[in-house]
Amino acid sequence: MGGALVGVDGVPVEVEVRISSQLPKVDVVGLPEAAVRESAARVRAAIASLGLPFPDRRVTVNLAPAGLRKSGAGLDLPIAVGILAAAGSLEPEALAGVGLLGELALDGRVRGVRGALAQVLALGEAGCRHVVAPSENAAEVALAPGIEVRLAATLAEVVSALRDGTPLERPVAAFSPPACAGGFDLALVRGQEHARRALEIAAAGGHGLLLRGAPGSGKTLLARALPGILPPLDFEEALEVTRIRSAAGLLAPDAPLVCERPFRAPHHSASRAGLLGGGNPPGPGEVSLAHRGALFLDELPEFDRPSLEALRQVLEDGGVSLARAGRRLWLPARFQLVAAANPCPCGWYRSGSRDCRCDEGVIAHYGAKLSGPLLDRIDLHVAVRPVAWRDLDASSAARESSARVQGRVVAARERQAARLARLGLRTNAEIPLAALEESVDATPEARALLARAVDRLALSARAAHRALRVARTIADLVGEPRVGAEPMAEAASLRAAEPGR
Ligand SMILES: Nc1ncnc2c1ncn2[C@@H]1O[C@H](COP(=O)(O)OP(=O)(O)O)[C@@H](O)[C@H]1O
Ligand SMILES: [Mg+2]
Repeated sequence: MGGALVGVDGVPVEVEVRISSQLPKVDVVGLPEAAVRESAARVRAAIASLGLPFPDRRVTVNLAPAGLRKSGAGLDLPIAVGILAAAGSLEPEALAGVGLLGELALDGRVRGVRGALAQVLALGEAGCRHVVAPSENAAEVALAPGIEVRLAATLAEVVSALRDGTPLERPVAAFSPPACAGGFDLALVRGQEHARRALEIAAAGGHGLLLRGAPGSGKTLLARALPGILPPLDFEEALEVTRIRSAAGLLAPDAPLVCERPFRAPHHSASRAGLLGGGNPPGPGEVSLAHRGALFLDELPEFDRPSLEALRQVLEDGGVSLARAGRRLWLPARFQLVAAANPCPCGWYRSGSRDCRCDEGVIAHYGAKLSGPLLDRIDLHVAVRPVAWRDLDASSAARESSARVQGRVVAARERQAARLARLGLRTNAEIPLAALEESVDATPEARALLARAVDRLALSARAAHRALRVARTIADLVGEPRVGAEPMAEAASLRAAEPGR
C-alpha cells in the first residue's frame, strides 16, 4: 500500500500490479498526475540498478481509489515493490500489512516526499502494521504515534528487508521545544507601555490584536516581538503544525518536529491562493501555515477586499474549505490575527504631529475597509502613539525582556488550558458564546461595570463578549480564579478609540 497527499491530509492508495502476455509496456491507471505517470521510467531504472529483471511483458499498475487524483512521486516505492512481487522477485505475502512511501532516483536511492508525516499517519489508520518511509523524512516520521515506522535510503534495502527480514533503521524521535522562540526582543522596545501590555494579553489568551497608528509609531516593531513571547508548542500542536508544513514542502529535512509557534507575515500583495490556500495540487496557504500560531497582516487596509472577506470566514470556521475535483478539502487554520494599520493612506490623519494630506472621502473609504465584521473578530484594538525622541534615545531603564513576559504568558495559558480542557479548547479567545458565562465567571461588580461600559461606549453585543474573554485572560495573567472589576475595566479600555481622539 502507498500513500498520496490531498491538501494537508495523507490518503492511502492501494497499488495493484498485473503482468499480462502482451508487448512490453507499463501503464499506470487510476487518475495519476504527471509525476505519477513518470513513475514508470524511474521505477524501471531503479529496478535495473539492482540487477533484478524487469518484466518484458505488459505491466498494468492500478491505483485505487480510482476517483482520487494522485500527485507526487511518493508512489514510486510501492509501485516498484509491486512490480517486483508480480514478477516473482519478492514473495507477495511479505507485503501484507506493509505501507511504503518514497520517490525513487534512477540509481535506486529513495528520496524524501512532501507530507510524509501525514501519509504515514494515513497508512497507519488504513491498517498497515509497518510503514517504510524515506530516510530523508526520518525526523518527521519519527513522530507518528502508534505505528512501526522503518527507514530506507535505497530500494536495495527495502528489497532485502522484504526478502529475508534484514532490519531497517528505526527513526528516533526528538522533541525538545526551544526555551524562547527567537524573533525580536521586547527589551529593545522603548516606552509603549500600553501597547506592550496589549501584546502580552493577546499572547496570553490567543486574542486577535489590531495596532493602529501613524507611520513610524512602532506598530511593525511591536508585532514582530510577538513570536518571542508566545509559548512553545505542545507535542500535539507540534504534530499538527509539522504536518501542514511538510505538506507545503517547507520542512527542512534535518529539522525534526516544528516546535516554534508559527508566525507568518504575508505581504499585502500576496495572491488569494498564497494567502488562503489552493493551487494545483492544492496546498496550504499562509492562514494554514499560521495554524496554532500568529498571522501578521501589516498595513491591513492594503489587502484587497475579497481577501479580507475570505479571511473573516476563515476566522469564523477555523479553517479553509476548498473544492477540488468534486471533493471538499479541509485545511485547518486556527491562528491568532495580528494586524497593523495606518489611519489613512498618508498615515497622518489625527496624528497630532503632522498634517494629513488625504481627502475626507479617501479617509472614510480607507476606514470602511477596516470596519465591520472583520474588525469585530479582533479582540484587542490598540492605538499606538509614537514615542518621543528623547524617550527613544534615552539609554533609560532597561525594559523587561521577552523571556520574562513569556513566563507569565505560559502560566496564563496553563490556567486556561486546565479550565477549558473539558470543552476541547486551549485559549480564552476560542470560548464559544454558549460557554462564556461559566468559563469567565465574572463577579457582580465586574458585570455591573461591563453593563455601564456597554451603555457609555455604545458597545455592540459582540464587543461586550470580546471584552469578557479578554477580561478572563487578564485575570489568568495574575492567577485570579474569578474575573473582578479591575480586569473588566482594563478589558473595556482595550477597545481602542481612533488614534488621536
Ligand atoms: N518604541 C520604540 N522603541 C524602539 N524603537 C522604536 C520604537 N518606535 C519606533 N522605533 C523605531 O522606529 C522604526 C519604525 O517603527 P515601525 O515599527 O516600522 O513603525 P510603523 O510600523 O508603525 O510604521 C523602528 O524600526 C524602530 O527603529
Ligand atoms: Mg509598519
